[in-house]
Amino acid sequence: MLNESLLPVPTGLLQIPEIPKTLEISDNHSLKFSLVLPTYNEAGNIADIVKILSELLDHSMLGEYELIVVDDNSPDQTWKLALELTPDYPQLRVMRRVEEKGLSTAVIRGWQAARGEVLGVIDADLQHPPEVLEQLLQEMEKGADLALASRHVEGGGVSEWSIIRRFLSRGAQMLGLMILPEVIGRLSDPMSGYFMVRRSAIAGKTLSPVGYKILIEVTARGKIRWLAEAGYVFRERQAGESKVTWKQYIEYLQHLVRLRLSLSARFLQFCLVGLSGVVVDMGFLYLLSDENTLGWSLTRSKIIAAELAIINNFIWNDFWTFRDIARLQPGKRQRVKRLIKFNIVCLAGLVLNVLLLNIFFNVFQLNRYLANFLAIVCVTLWNFWINLKLSWRVTEVDNSPMNNE
Ligand code: GDD
Ligand code: MN
Repeated sequence: MLNESLLPVPTGLLQIPEIPKTLEISDNHSLKFSLVLPTYNEAGNIADIVKILSELLDHSMLGEYELIVVDDNSPDQTWKLALELTPDYPQLRVMRRVEEKGLSTAVIRGWQAARGEVLGVIDADLQHPPEVLEQLLQEMEKGADLALASRHVEGGGVSEWSIIRRFLSRGAQMLGLMILPEVIGRLSDPMSGYFMVRRSAIAGKTLSPVGYKILIEVTARGKIRWLAEAGYVFRERQAGESKVTWKQYIEYLQHLVRLRLSLSARFLQFCLVGLSGVVVDMGFLYLLSDENTLGWSLTRSKIIAAELAIINNFIWNDFWTFRDIARLQPGKRQRVKRLIKFNIVCLAGLVLNVLLLNIFFNVFQLNRYLANFLAIVCVTLWNFWINLKLSWRVTEVDNSPMNNE
């Protein structure tokens, strides 16, 4: 009887649907906000947190939100206690997971079952002050793609953390900055487990977090253009105990490395395409300028060979390296526009290449081949970055679901 009112646990890929699954069957309207509470042995906290959150959210969005408890079959039967609360709280739904475990996947499974346009997560042990939700929701209303409660901005902090825990927390952040600067550098508190994200920013992306740090996964894989933060003080636990052990630090490292590899895949593709361009360039230089073939002048041959290499690289990049982005702007005119931008970036890269070679060789007095190699590395990075930001930039504007009700 009790089990029948449980939310079914989604299976398969950890992917958030564009349109909430339940809406496809019933003609239930979608909600503004779904807040997931991951729980493991929170029997002493669950009733309090549900009460506090409900009072708070009823005040600002009655009938437009839901709370989803995702419990990993806690020995203290948190899921059962939560289920017994549902008659008093119609917006409360409870998921009991038996097969799968772990904080990050609990959050994603909860979001998969969610009906909201904005998806949030908060600890169930009252260590995250619920009032901050209002500020975060305001940031989302303003148009943020992700709003995060941070201990390291104004108004934030930790209450009674030992020097060791503070040190470990900051150390983990520094390590993250070294391995994954483009993601960790955007977050003042990458360890935060208290945030919300627009469904449209992560829908369709396959998430694969290891361990605790779901925020890093979402920021790395989602389309997060506008990121907002609000300060909060991490409170002391009143009941139950923390589940963090040394294992979480290992998993964190594993997670960073996995993300690094998968985010670098595009760059590796770009480098391979670059190599194919060298082959094209060499080949045409031979065909056009060699005495045994056409025997044209070197400059004329080089200009044509270089241009053909650029076109070769553009085609590979458009259909392979950046295919996901190219698919978002498929028109012929847009493709030509990308080709022109790519051409300009490549020519600018050539100028930069010569400049750097001169600096490394003349100013730093490096060996000329080492200098040339370094110049090529720099220009490749520069080319990749500028092309990503300019040539394959998505120019259409997203309609934020919260602003057009
Ligand atoms: N379903 C599920 N499965 N829930 C879990 C699991 C799990 O394996 N492990 C922990 N939780 C739940 C807890 O019941 C609690 O509601 C929340 O996730 C946070 O777990 P804690 O064990 O209380 O974490 P903490 O207080 O040490 O860590 C907090 O601080 C970090 C910042 O340093 C959390 O807020 C983290 O989210 C945060 O990143
Ligand atoms: Mn906690």
